[in-house]
Amino acid sequence: MRHLAIIMDGNGRWAKARGRIRLQGHRAGADTLERVMGYCREAGIRYLTVYAFSTENWKRPKAEVSGLMRLLSSFIRSKARKLVKDGIRFRTIGRIGDLPGKLQGEIAQLERKTAGGDFTLTVALSYGGRAEIVDAANRWLASNPAAPLDEAAFSSFMYAPDIPDPDLVIRTSGEIRTSNFLLWETAYSEWYFTDVFWPDFGREEFDKALASYSKRERRMGGVNESGCEKNG
Ligand code: FPP
Repeated sequence: MRHLAIIMDGNGRWAKARGRIRLQGHRAGADTLERVMGYCREAGIRYLTVYAFSTENWKRPKAEVSGLMRLLSSFIRSKARKLVKDGIRFRTIGRIGDLPGKLQGEIAQLERKTAGGDFTLTVALSYGGRAEIVDAANRWLASNPAAPLDEAAFSSFMYAPDIPDPDLVIRTSGEIRTSNFLLWETAYSEWYFTDVFWPDFGREEFDKALASYSKRERRMGGVNESGCEKNG
């Protein structure tokens, strides 16, 4: 597997179950992300994309939104050196221009510093799958197109066209929906859902998700070995 994507859900419920504030759940979630990066590298995965903040998350209470922005800033500041040392390339997808100016600067700096890394962590921030498609369409329009598009040409206007599509998407916390995550890129991805809240997602869960993926036969809309036609 080249690319794993994760909807890191359940931080709030994890915190509530412990009588803590939601932000403590997000903090624990950031620690989980660090551990999971290690598991990915051990498994030979080259790309990890995580949904950290959606276009809809701006509607959350102000204190939670600003707490999450601070958490992202402090993650970037405190982990920068380690990311460079470990060869982790930090990237973002989403409407980065909507984030606080200071955070935008920190992101740009970290992206530059880690550009040589061979493992890519992509963080979706102020991200929406529909927003990405609309942004791509507008970018295409702004390029003064001379001819209509095919799928490959349209892909080149997406946020990170050089990153391969996810092979597997994991969503934690028992919600079984895609919630506007990588709508275009997951057309043929496998999905894995688990009831575990993101802060509790550990090695065992990771291994279970990968084992489930490896048992699946990916047909990408083609025909399987027994000659039966498949839809996807
Ligand atoms: C969903 O749980 C989680 C989020 C909206 C935030 C995810 C953010 C992190 C894990 C923080 C760190 C990320 C980085 C890159 C350092 P929820 O709040 O919707 O939980 P709930 O459904 O239980 O309320």
